[in-house]
Amino acid sequence: MLKLPEDFIFGGATAAYQVEGATKEGGKGEVAWDEFLEKQGRFSPDPASDFYHQYEKDIELCEKFGVNGLRLSIAWSRIFPDGTGKVNEEGVAFYHKVFAACEKHGVLPFVTLHHFDTPKVLFDQGDFLNRDNIEAFVAYAKFCFDEFKEVRYWSTFNEIYPVATNQYLLGIFPPGITYDFTKIIACLHNMMYAHARVVNLFKDEGYAGEIGVVHSLETKYPASDALEDQHAAFLDDALSIRFLLDATYLGYYSDETLSALAEICEANGASYDFPEEDLAEMKRASHRNDYLGINHYQCHFVKAYHGENAIHHNGTGDKGTSVYKVKGIGERIYKEGIPRTDWDWLIYPEGLYDLLLRIKEDYPHYNKIYITENGMGFKDQFDDGVIMDQPRIEYLKVYLESLSQAISAGVNVKGYFLWSLMDLFSWSNGYNKRYGLFYVDFETQKRYPKESAYWYKFVSETKTII
Ligand code: BG6
Repeated sequence: MLKLPEDFIFGGATAAYQVEGATKEGGKGEVAWDEFLEKQGRFSPDPASDFYHQYEKDIELCEKFGVNGLRLSIAWSRIFPDGTGKVNEEGVAFYHKVFAACEKHGVLPFVTLHHFDTPKVLFDQGDFLNRDNIEAFVAYAKFCFDEFKEVRYWSTFNEIYPVATNQYLLGIFPPGITYDFTKIIACLHNMMYAHARVVNLFKDEGYAGEIGVVHSLETKYPASDALEDQHAAFLDDALSIRFLLDATYLGYYSDETLSALAEICEANGASYDFPEEDLAEMKRASHRNDYLGINHYQCHFVKAYHGENAIHHNGTGDKGTSVYKVKGIGERIYKEGIPRTDWDWLIYPEGLYDLLLRIKEDYPHYNKIYITENGMGFKDQFDDGVIMDQPRIEYLKVYLESLSQAISAGVNVKGYFLWSLMDLFSWSNGYNKRYGLFYVDFETQKRYPKESAYWYKFVSETKTII
């Protein structure tokens, strides 16, 4: 049986918009998602898991079940309803209460400043494509650092690559734009620059605590040994992984990244510009990250593709409906013998091991890592209060084993945040795709520990992966 270190954090992860509900309560300002979801009419973000009212109970559950870290995000528009300007004191008070509950129950809060929810006023002005919004983000970050002194662990952004691609490639996030690589690359770069600005601010001002960024890093493998498949995997990796790690840890884009960008841009009629001043700021931040947060759920096998763009996002759990074929990158395929979830996410724990070893090798000053999300979306069966989620336990077990092996191979991973603490609202899948350790009856807002919650408690208490 594999073990995890004694001082390891066994956390649970959430995000403001996915758990809080109360989108029109407590003086909260609008976000683009409110209107986007209303127009779609598929599902509502209210009441989600009603964390806005149930936080005390949820944090108490953490303590009971050995969950000693809670990853959560602050909703920017609860603090600044219009993104800048007037502060909403009710929002500030809410997060102070949440952090006080964490303190009371011995749960360490890991706080993300931005988890997909830019205030609508700023979003409508171009979100992170608009450079003025970078200044607004830095001001919001500074406000949080000054105000929430009880927080020790900060992340700037959650998942810059999915923000850029879901907004401007797949179109499944507002503003729903597709195949615009100029916007994708500008968004990636501007957010990485904004991250650097906030890291430099945090360090220059000498705030106590740690700062990092959370990247979604899904390992890419060639679909075969053929040279063109290897090249397709290289291109997909360059845009989704190497770009972000270069920006985070080098402060410039490596030749590999730039050559891949040139190819992707040529195929898609796109262009980019990385101002020298931005790179200087990023360079200064590149050795100042206290940690890297990694969200990792799956990996991709990539095959060369020479046709037109075609993407279908499986947001329903109808297995086998995903399509990802992108000009100038490649096609992501299913691989014989590799299991996948109903949402077509490939279960391949070696992907996590390979990713962690690669970071250690390519960016040796990475400092330390937290796995900030990992988990399995599943259609749980509720049987009179009992939820036997064995497939989820199996999934978590193999990923934790892979993580433990990476630690044994010398990678400095200090904690793991299981996605998700409780069932919550999923951006493009609604309420059907459950991830939680705790089942939520969304009608009554009652919580029920799943079998996996008892399993996780054991693992957390014994540090033993069974
Ligand atoms: C990550 C996000 O991408 O994956 C979460 O940080 C998200 O916000 C999670 O919910 C799972 O994705 P999905 O699409 O299954 O909800």
